[in-house]
Amino acid sequence: MTIDLHGRHFLKEVDFTPDEWRSLVELTGELKTARREGRERRRLEGLNVALLFEKTSTRTRSAFEVAAHQQGAHVTYMDPSGSQISHKESAADTVRVLGRMFDGIEYRGSRQAIVETMGRYSPVPVWNGLTDEWHPTQSLCDAFTMQEASGKDGHDISFAFLGDARFNMGNSLLTMGAIMGSDVRVVAPRAFQPAADLVARAQRLAERTGARITITDDLAEGVRGADFVHTDVWVSMGEDKGVWAERCRALAPYQVSTRVMEMTQNPDARFMHCLPAFHNLETEVGRQVFQMTGMRELEVTDEVFESKASIVFDQAENRMHSIKAVMVATVGR
Ligand code: CP
Ligand code: NVA
Repeated sequence: MTIDLHGRHFLKEVDFTPDEWRSLVELTGELKTARREGRERRRLEGLNVALLFEKTSTRTRSAFEVAAHQQGAHVTYMDPSGSQISHKESAADTVRVLGRMFDGIEYRGSRQAIVETMGRYSPVPVWNGLTDEWHPTQSLCDAFTMQEASGKDGHDISFAFLGDARFNMGNSLLTMGAIMGSDVRVVAPRAFQPAADLVARAQRLAERTGARITITDDLAEGVRGADFVHTDVWVSMGEDKGVWAERCRALAPYQVSTRVMEMTQNPDARFMHCLPAFHNLETEVGRQVFQMTGMRELEVTDEVFESKASIVFDQAENRMHSIKAVMVATVGR
């Protein structure tokens, strides 16, 4: 089946039908293989791509830049203080300007409402590079990475997300799993579970796709039989630093440790994390949180992060292939 996504925005998972989403996962694999086999076709030749970041990034920026270059496009990167957006110019005006010059616009910022506004006003596709609510280029990468690592179709994959599940990664993985027809477990204290309307929407999707959705604060029930255990930072970009101590207290029982990996009762269970991760004291924030809490490792232990079960760097590489798929599908020729 050929699915045409040309001219479409990429703002959040639910904007795509399960078939459309699966076509992006497949395209990710095709582009990765083509690159590896030296037969990549440059489908973005001569195009111009704007990368607008109101928050910092290592993976997302690099993935967009390298993917664009490999496909023949030029990129213009605007760092968190490098454009007029927000302080002097609205999102609607910004994209109406950029849309006269560029063929596609990536945006990373805070509220999803901003990127949705951009979508309404932009004459060219807008790609969401992360908002507080959604991180769809990451969940696309994760859907592909789980299929690649397990050799299973989305329907046969079981995965758990542990930690702060009411922010972008929790929302995106829940929704992506519902779209892919997977066995999805969101494992978090009640206060950190996804909003009721998002869960209800995932349940409705699950009725169509055959996904199984579990939202629980019970760690043993949540991880039993999982093929993949995901987590994310406990305090996200843009949140008040003052919440670290309380957040660590609330989420410490959900730290991904060797014991948690064993609780899956699946010797082949893999560990995934969108990164960056706090698994040692090699970062400034990690050391500050250690001063506050005495915790040397936060959402994941160093032992799990560095273990054979950890596929976090394969996952990070796949950001590039999946972001390439988004650009090729929406603006490629
Ligand atoms: N996973 C992810 O989005 O990483 P960056 O913040 O480095 O882009
Ligand atoms: N929840 C994290 C994801 C980083 C990729 C954040 O928003 O900071």
